[in-house]
Amino acid sequence: MSIAKLVIYAVAFIAPPIVLFALLRRRAASVVSDIPPAPQLQPSEKPKSIMQAENTNLAPPKDDPFTLEELKAFDGSDPSKPIYLSIKGTVFDVSAKRDVYGPGRSYGIFAGKDPSKGLGMSSLKPENAVPEYEDLNEGDRKVLDDWHGFFTKRYNIVGRVVDHPTHLKQGNAPSL
Ligand code: HEM
Repeated sequence: MSIAKLVIYAVAFIAPPIVLFALLRRRAASVVSDIPPAPQLQPSEKPKSIMQAENTNLAPPKDDPFTLEELKAFDGSDPSKPIYLSIKGTVFDVSAKRDVYGPGRSYGIFAGKDPSKGLGMSSLKPENAVPEYEDLNEGDRKVLDDWHGFFTKRYNIVGRVVDHPTHLKQGNAPSL
């Protein structure tokens, strides 16, 4: 084979894959460099939560007595009344979040009730939106206590449930 033929073969068969490979590499590199780098948080900065921030302007907690029956009137169905919900017998005013706790809204199932069992179980089923939490396992009790802490930092406490079934069974133990 002459040198000239060899050069022609080389250009015809070897050069195209090399050029293609080089082009693909450049494209891949530019796609990768298009991805913005993850934001660098300063150690003092906490990542933003989708949950609402803590309320630093809470009123002193009230100790007004509520029966579970009385609590039902505050389920959001009467727009002129506040919305209350109780966790482990502590009654919170969640009216500021009518868009979340109002009738038919994401967590409307909890309004006017003590849904401690469902909160502990992470269940939104109506049958679990009940006050009895004594049968929850340790993990679910921790979840429930965390919710109690979450609400305590965000909503005014307006009273306590005086006929909480779990507390009655336990000889009227305080809610927390
Ligand atoms: C796929 C499942 C779920 C998703 C995507 C979800 C999403 C969210 C989001 C985005 C918020 C913030 C809402 C806001 O502040 O406006 C929120 C708050 C909340 N979620 Fe969920 N959630 C889920 C399941 C549950 C379950 C199973 C429970 C309890 C049984 C629950 C209870 C709550 C409560 C109590 C709040 C607090 C609302 C407040 O700020 O007062 N969520 N959830």
